[in-house]
Amino acid sequence: MNKVMVTGGMGYIGSHTIIELLKNGKYQVVSVDSCERSTPETAARIEQITGIPVVNEQVDICNKKAFFELFERHSDIVGIIHFAAYKSVPESVEKPLEYYRNNLGSLENVLEACQKFSIPNLIFSSSCSIYGEVSQLPVTENTPVGMPFCPYAHTKQIGEEMLRFVAHIHPELQVVILRYFNPVGGDMSGLNGELSPDKPNNLMPIITQVAIGKKEGITVFGDDYDTRDGSCIRDYIHVSDIAEAHILALDFLQNGKNETNCEVFNLGSGSGITVLEMLHTFEQETGIKLNYTIGSRRAGDIPAIYSDSRHAQEKLGWLCKHDLKDIITSAWAWEQHY
Ligand code: NAD
Ligand code: WQD
Repeated sequence: MNKVMVTGGMGYIGSHTIIELLKNGKYQVVSVDSCERSTPETAARIEQITGIPVVNEQVDICNKKAFFELFERHSDIVGIIHFAAYKSVPESVEKPLEYYRNNLGSLENVLEACQKFSIPNLIFSSSCSIYGEVSQLPVTENTPVGMPFCPYAHTKQIGEEMLRFVAHIHPELQVVILRYFNPVGGDMSGLNGELSPDKPNNLMPIITQVAIGKKEGITVFGDDYDTRDGSCIRDYIHVSDIAEAHILALDFLQNGKNETNCEVFNLGSGSGITVLEMLHTFEQETGIKLNYTIGSRRAGDIPAIYSDSRHAQEKLGWLCKHDLKDIITSAWAWEQHY
C-alpha cells in the first residue's frame, strides 16, 4: 500500500480526495489538519462513506516541531498532497499577514519535510485566481499569471514560484501544481460536502442556504457584463472530479511520466456558465424557486473565466465524470443532510 499524507484532509477538497484515495484501494492515508477551518468529525463522515477509518493528526503545519514529529510515527510516505491553507479572498484583504504566514509558512515546512524525510512526490493546491483578469479564453497553463488582485491569490503565486525553484534545485523532489477553477458540489452519497461559514461568500453555498431558508435571498452581482445574459461566467467543477485528478497526478509522478520536476495543470470543466444560468438550473433540478435580485457588480470580480482542460486530459487521462446536474443535486443533498 502506498502511504500518502493529505494536509487539510478534514477540509472541503481534502476530505473528498481522501474518500477517492480510499475508494481506489491502493492508498493508505494520514491526514494532517489543525481543524481550525473544519472539524475532526469529517473523519467519521469519510469512514461512513468508505467503510475505512482515517487518522487525522490535529497539528498546525506552521508548528515545525509538531509537524516534523509526525514523520517519526508515519514513515514510508510516498507523497504529500498539500491542501492546508486559508482560502477566503475578502478575509485575505482584511488580514494579509495571516494569509502570508499560514499559506507560505505551511508550504515552507512541507517542502523542508520532503527533503528531511526523503518524500519524493508533492502535489500542491493552486487556484485559477493566480491568472487575474485574462484577455483570452479559455485559460491554458501558458496563460500568463496576472497581477495579484488580493493577498490570497498572491500566496498561491508565491507558493508556485517557491515550488518551481525548490524542485529545480532539488531534482529528487517531483511536484505537480493543480490550479482549481470553481470546485462545487459534494460526495454523491450526500454525506459529505463543503462546511461553509455562516456567511459564505461563494455562490453555491449561498444558493443552497437560500433554498433551505437559512438565508433570505441572493443578490446577483451585476447583469451588465459583456456575457450572454449579462452575469459573470465561471467554470464550476465537481469536487469529486477535482479529487480524482489528485490520484491521477500521484500515478503520473510515480510512473515517471512527468517531463519536468514541476508540472502544472488546470482543473476546470472546460466551459463556463453564468450566474443566472446556475440559479435557473438549480431551480429546474430541485423544483425550488430561489429568491434573487439583481445588484451591482462586486468589486474585484472578473467578467468571465473558464479553463482549457486538454492538458490534464492528455497527460493525466483526467475526464470529468460529473455534470452540472450532479453538482447541484449533490450540493443540495449535502445542505439538507447537514
Ligand atoms: P478548506 O478551508 O475547506 O480546507 C483547508 C483545511 O486546511 C482546513 O480544514 C483547515 O483547518 C486546514 N488548515 C489550514 N491551515 C492549516 C495549517 N497551518 N495546519 C494544518 N491545517 C491547516 O479549503 P478547501 O476548499 O478544501 O481548499 C483546499 C485547498 O485548495 C486550499 O489550498 C485552497 O486555497 C485551494 N483552493 C480552493 C478552492 C475552493 O474554491 N475551495 C479553489 C482553488 C484552490
Ligand atoms: C462565483 C460567481 C460572483 C456570490 C472564488 C475565489 C477564487 C477561487 C474560487 C480559491 C461570481 C457571483 C457570488 C453572490 C453572486 N477560490 N456571485 N452573488 O469569485 O469566481 O472565485 O472561488 O482559490 O480564488 O475568488 O467564486 O463563488 O465567490 O463567485 O452573483 O452572492 O458568483 O460575482 O461571478 P469566484 P464565487
